[in-house]
Amino acid sequence: MNAALLPTRGVLFRWAHVLPVTDATPRVTLGEGDTPLVRAERLAARCGLDELWFKLESCNPTGSFKDRGMVVAVAKALEAGARAVLCASTGNTSASAAAYAARCGLACYVLVPEGKVAAGKLAQAVAFGARIVEVRGNFDEALAAARAVTERHGIALVNSVNPHRIEGQKTAAFEICETLGDAPDILAIPVGNAGNITAYWRGFVECRERGYASRCPRMFGFQAAGAAPIVLGRPVENPTTIATAIRIGNPASWQGAIRARDESGGLIEAVTDDQILAAYRLLAREEGIFVEPASAACVAGLLALGEAGRLRGGRAVAVLTGNGLKDPDTPRAVYQADVVRAPATLEGVERALGLRG
Ligand code: F0G
Repeated sequence: MNAALLPTRGVLFRWAHVLPVTDATPRVTLGEGDTPLVRAERLAARCGLDELWFKLESCNPTGSFKDRGMVVAVAKALEAGARAVLCASTGNTSASAAAYAARCGLACYVLVPEGKVAAGKLAQAVAFGARIVEVRGNFDEALAAARAVTERHGIALVNSVNPHRIEGQKTAAFEICETLGDAPDILAIPVGNAGNITAYWRGFVECRERGYASRCPRMFGFQAAGAAPIVLGRPVENPTTIATAIRIGNPASWQGAIRARDESGGLIEAVTDDQILAAYRLLAREEGIFVEPASAACVAGLLALGEAGRLRGGRAVAVLTGNGLKDPDTPRAVYQADVVRAPATLEGVERALGLRG
């Protein structure tokens, strides 16, 4: 093939040298990774920061950070001869698994908590042809069932308990160090099952070891107040939050999150649904960035720390994990839409916009 036509994007192309891939690993890609790092225009000062940057993981092929790890997990499953993949999910993992499975001709089974998955995410799993099992239970119960089923049958489990997921997701830390020329002072991230904070921490530590960064950031994780087991120090049996992506009461990578926090001198704190929605609104209305509620949790956390006078300058990166389009119902539920009806005429539109005297 013409060299110019070979993929230059994709986690398995750009980052093979830091991933557990071999010559036998299929180089799967949907163009994941290389997501934009954009500077906040207005929110930095409100947070008490000199610089705030957003890592737009919403720009991945299925609209969330999951694609970075899923491409590695699915490629390794193919390499091992798997015919099917399975995951439990609050929605984004299932969308990503379904996409990469479709791409690679694998069957895909997803276990989701009934009635608690945002509409766009389910639409993705349907479009990609996954078999969807709506379980009567929450994510934690679905994950336990997923582990039991995959242990018994020859199906690859592609939740973040699969180490290849963490490996793929760590590449976002490499990209941040590459773009900024070093690690930031603070990395702010929403925490659900805690795979992503674990992956970023591994990525930053490896960047320092390889000389891509001179230091590591402090890791600031944020859970929703109704689903904050790590903050409380005990599992939450019935987690609740508007941020359904992080509605998790017993995270699988709990210890990884604790290590990231403690080794980095960071913190893991809770934000309320009201704080999440306030940050969700500010991101959209002051920065032009539409995320799903879970992603806004880390910005809500930085705003709360800033308001409490706990941030004294420095450079922070906030990981915006999922696209707002995944959850079209939340804006309609929380905002009064600014809509007027008018005839399709010059006069009608002038009147509707108040441009006619
Ligand atoms: N943000 C979004 C948009 C997510 O979908 C998730 C997790 C997180 C943050 C938290 O990441 O679990 O690694 O701590 N979603 C999983 C799923 C649980 O099934 O899609 P985490």
